[in-house]
Amino acid sequence: MARKSERARQKTATVDFMEAERRRFAGKEKTLARAICYIAGELPMTIENLADHPEFLPTIAQWQHGEWGHLRPGDTVEDRRNRLETSCERDRIPLTVVAFNDGQPLGSASLIQHDMDTRLELSPWLASVFVAPEFRRQGIGARLVRRIMAEAGALNVPTLYLYTVHSEAFYASLGWTLPEHSAYREQTVAIMTYLPAKSKP
Ligand SMILES: CC(C)(COP(=O)(O)OP(=O)(O)OC[C@H]1O[C@@H](n2cnc3c(N)ncnc32)[C@H](O)[C@@H]1OP(=O)(O)O)[C@@H](O)C(=O)NCCC(=O)NCCS
Repeated sequence: MARKSERARQKTATVDFMEAERRRFAGKEKTLARAICYIAGELPMTIENLADHPEFLPTIAQWQHGEWGHLRPGDTVEDRRNRLETSCERDRIPLTVVAFNDGQPLGSASLIQHDMDTRLELSPWLASVFVAPEFRRQGIGARLVRRIMAEAGALNVPTLYLYTVHSEAFYASLGWTLPEHSAYREQTVAIMTYLPAKSKP
């Protein structure tokens, strides 16, 4: 009996302590996150759904048009922006996430139903992974990819796909496997897969 009440006392003390800590840090979550990034040597940033940050749409459309515009001859930045704007969902596909710091967008990535018009039987896809050139090689791309992997997991996606020409090693290091190479738009692309249900990002 005495041991039970001691355990109850300890439990109450722990709950009180946690509540006091929660109050102490309430409203300082961003400061804490920044401090953790600083200690870990990472660039401080937030990754959120683009649907909640339409102010970043023009920059992301510009990035994507610059990087992949040649794949759609005649396409304009405005076309790209309009497509992006109408495909920004929150809890369903298609969705886009954006990494930013102090109001500055750093990179983005999307989860979409189809990315290869020759492989419509495969769905959904991680696509449009892009980090602004001045912020590359600081782990932002990896965090964006992991975030989309987690979003796919939360949406119970059994298999997630991507295709890439140059970044096989990057995705392999994040747990993606390579079932096949394929010819696509006059290039050889690697089609890679990730099984959200069987792995944790
Ligand atoms: C590919 C891209 C998204 C990577 O973003 P990033 O923020 O520089 O990547 P990270 O810093 O998170 O790199 C993660 C790891 O991958 C490695 N890596 C990054 N880019 C790589 C590349 N092109 N080839 C091989 N390895 C690469 C990094 O060295 C790092 O490994 P490390 O932790 O052992 O050092 C970025 O280079 C980019 O936007 N490129 C242009 C668009 C593009 O090609 N997108 C991919 C289309 S499939």
